Parts: sequence; structure tokens; C-alpha cells
Amino acid sequence: MLILVIGQGAREHAITQTLLRDPDVQVICAPGNPGIAKISQISPVDVTDTNSVVALAKKCNPDLIVIGPEAPLVAGVVDELTNAGFIVFGPSKSAAQLEGSKAFAKEIMQAAGVPTGDSKYCQTIAQARAALELFGAPYVVKDDGLAAGKGVVVTDDFAEAVAHAMACIDGRDGGAVVIEEFLDGPEVSLFGVSDGTTVIPLTPAQDFKRVGDNDAGPNTGGMGAYSPLPWAPANFVKQVQESVLQPVIDEMRRREIPFVGLLFAGLAVTKNGIKVIEFNARFGDPETQVVLARLESSLSQLLLAAATGNLAKLPALKWSGDSAVTVVMAAQGYPESPVSGAVISGMAEAEELGLSVFHAGTKLNEHGEIAVSGGRVLSVTATGKDLIDARSQAYAGVERIRFDGEHHRSDIALKAAHGEIRLGVEN
Ligand code: AMP
Ligand code: GLY
Repeated sequence: MLILVIGQGAREHAITQTLLRDPDVQVICAPGNPGIAKISQISPVDVTDTNSVVALAKKCNPDLIVIGPEAPLVAGVVDELTNAGFIVFGPSKSAAQLEGSKAFAKEIMQAAGVPTGDSKYCQTIAQARAALELFGAPYVVKDDGLAAGKGVVVTDDFAEAVAHAMACIDGRDGGAVVIEEFLDGPEVSLFGVSDGTTVIPLTPAQDFKRVGDNDAGPNTGGMGAYSPLPWAPANFVKQVQESVLQPVIDEMRRREIPFVGLLFAGLAVTKNGIKVIEFNARFGDPETQVVLARLESSLSQLLLAAATGNLAKLPALKWSGDSAVTVVMAAQGYPESPVSGAVISGMAEAEELGLSVFHAGTKLNEHGEIAVSGGRVLSVTATGKDLIDARSQAYAGVERIRFDGEHHRSDIALKAAHGEIRLGVEN
């Protein structure tokens, strides 16, 4: 089976590596990156340019296309590929609105009876101020459009909340902001793979959104992740399946916008139960790196079954009892203004430890060296018998890799490994 993977991050590197575990699978990744190029063919493409993605698909003629990032989904790449006769794992443009519009996601949740925080959709600054006063601090202010995880401000500072609301409303035509009740409790990312009717939950993971240790500093795309969650409530996955994933898939189908692909539920485990913070319409990054590290079943069979409406026939997924931890190594200045160009060394030495160094913002420079080309540069991923073991291995890998200006969090999975997460109290 030939699979075309669209994307170029550590997530796509992990997806490609996992697909290639199946002996009958070949992968072309587009545009890929220098790390992915070591394990599969890569091909240049502008992922948001629908015509070039379709042209590439026609050239490669894959049996399955897997879309990694959100931008091509929201641009309607899946619709065009499907019209051209390809089998695609990823939602249509309309279904991807679950991620692309916070207001749409809220509407679906309300209709499906899915637990989430109260919120107000505001198109003027007066409405936004009133909503901020209604919910009180901490203030949660979200850009209504796509913002790569960076459009959300959570703050105790009223002036900062108002300033972000103004930036969202004035940012573009039809700009709007969603002001939301603060959800207090540890966050969990749970992925559901769906064929539009059936949805199969994967194993839960926790992401670390803030740039600094102890959740200091601004939000990022994600600085690290781990799985499983030893502190998760009993029947957690079953509860989310029944109260979130299946009702959303059913509601989307009822509206004739079936969701085929990966439904990513960002959840808060609060004192009042599990609530949805947000949906994404794609695999999470860096959560995918740890989730796939624990998947023992065939990923290609899972994604193909979803893309062809056959999930109900698939045997139950098998998961390793090991733990997995990934640590993101970021460029100088990330997330505000990442600096490119620093040469990276030590990756082979890290890989000698038996772990995976997934590439994200990397490129080959004019001397053929691997250099920094984006904010999140590498995702160093290790497994171990428990979280203590997995995190010590991941950090041993991180210690071997160097580039100027590099920074990473030193507390990924730390509290979970030492049993210090209390439900509904702290993250
Ligand atoms: P989002 O893009 O909606 O996932 O938001 C990014 C991050 O902001 C989340 O992962 C949370 O850490 C935080 N966040 C968003 N909404 C809320 C909320 N209602 N309550 C608490 N934290 C939130
Ligand atoms: N790590 C969160 C995301 O992929 O949006």
C-alpha cells in the first residue's frame, strides 16, 4: 500500500515512522523534512495550495492520503482530493470547522449535549468587555479563527484580556472573539479516529502548552507530552467516548457534514466533570508522538478503515503497557519570534540511545548540515517501563543534542511521574 502523508512536522515524522512499521506500506511525505527524508521519499508541495496537492496525488497515485496539519483541511484540500477519486484520511472543509471556528464547535457541542464551558461570541469590544465582566478572572479570550494554538490568552489581567479581544476583533474582516468560562483542572488530549459513523478512541495523552517550566510564559503549539495518564479517572476513555466523541460524530452526521478523520478532544478534568476546552480536526502535535509510540496495532489499517467507512469491522486496538514521553526542543525566540539558522548537532548520538528524534522546524543548509528553520525544532521521544523511566530516557536524548539558542521544558511528565497531579485542583 502506498500512502501519501501531507505535512512536515514532528507529527508527520511520527506518523510516517509508525506507518512504515507495516511491512506492506510505502510512504511519500510531502513536503516532509530532512528527518522524514531519512526514512521515506519526500516531495515538495505547498500544503495549502489545493491544486498542487491534487497534482502531486495524481502523480504518485497513492492508495491512501493522510493529512497532518489543519491548514490544508480548512483550505478544503480533502474535498478536492475526494472529488478527484482519492481515499483520504481527513475531514472535509465543512467538517474541519470543528477546529477552524470556535463558535461552530460550541454550536455543535450545545446541539449534541456535550459538556463544555459557558461562552459568549463577541463581535464588538463592548460585547467582549461585558462577557469578561460576566465570567470574571481568570479570563479566557479566544480568536474565533485558526491560530496554531497561539490565539488564546488566559490571564488574570483585565486590561490584557481586553487588548487580546480587540486584536482578535480588529485582526481581519469579520473578526470575532470567544470569551469563555475558565475551566479549572488538568488537561487531557484524547483522539478519536472516525469514519463518519463509528469513532474509536486512542489512548489519552497530556500536552504542555506554556513555553516555560511550571506553565510560565505564553502558550505555544505544545512543548512536550506523555502517555498514559496514571492519574486519569477510572473509565476515562469510555466516559469521553460516550459523552463527547460519539455525540459529536452523530451530530455532524445528522447535519450531513460527516466527520471522517481524527477528532481531537482537548479536555479539562474539572471538579464538575470532564469538559471540552476545544476540538481539533487532526492529530495533535506533540501528543501524536507519544500516542503512536504506544500503539501496537497497524496504523495503516486503522486509517484506511476510517477513510473507507469500515471502522466497525476493525478488531480492538492494542496498546503497549509502556509509557512514552516527548520533549520539544525549541528555537531561540519561540514562540514570539523564532530565529532560524543555528546548526544542530548530536542527533545521531541521541538516536543511539534507542529513542526517536522527530524533526519539525529543520532544514538542510547550503553546507548540507541540518539547521533550525522553525519554532519547534525537534521532538525527542522515548518509551520506558513507567513515566520516570521514559522521561529520564527522553531527557538523556535531549542532553546530547545542541543548537544555539535551544530551549526546552525540564518538567515534562514530572508531576505525573511522581503522582503529584490532583484532579480538579491543579495542572
Ligand atoms: P485552545 O486553543 O482552545 O486549545 O486553547 C489553548 C490553551 O488555552 C488550552 O490548552 C488551555 O491550556 C487554555 N484554555 C483554553 N480555554 C480554556 C478554558 N476555558 N479554561 C482554561 N484554560 C483554557
Ligand atoms: N498540541 C496541541 C495541538 O496539536 O493543537
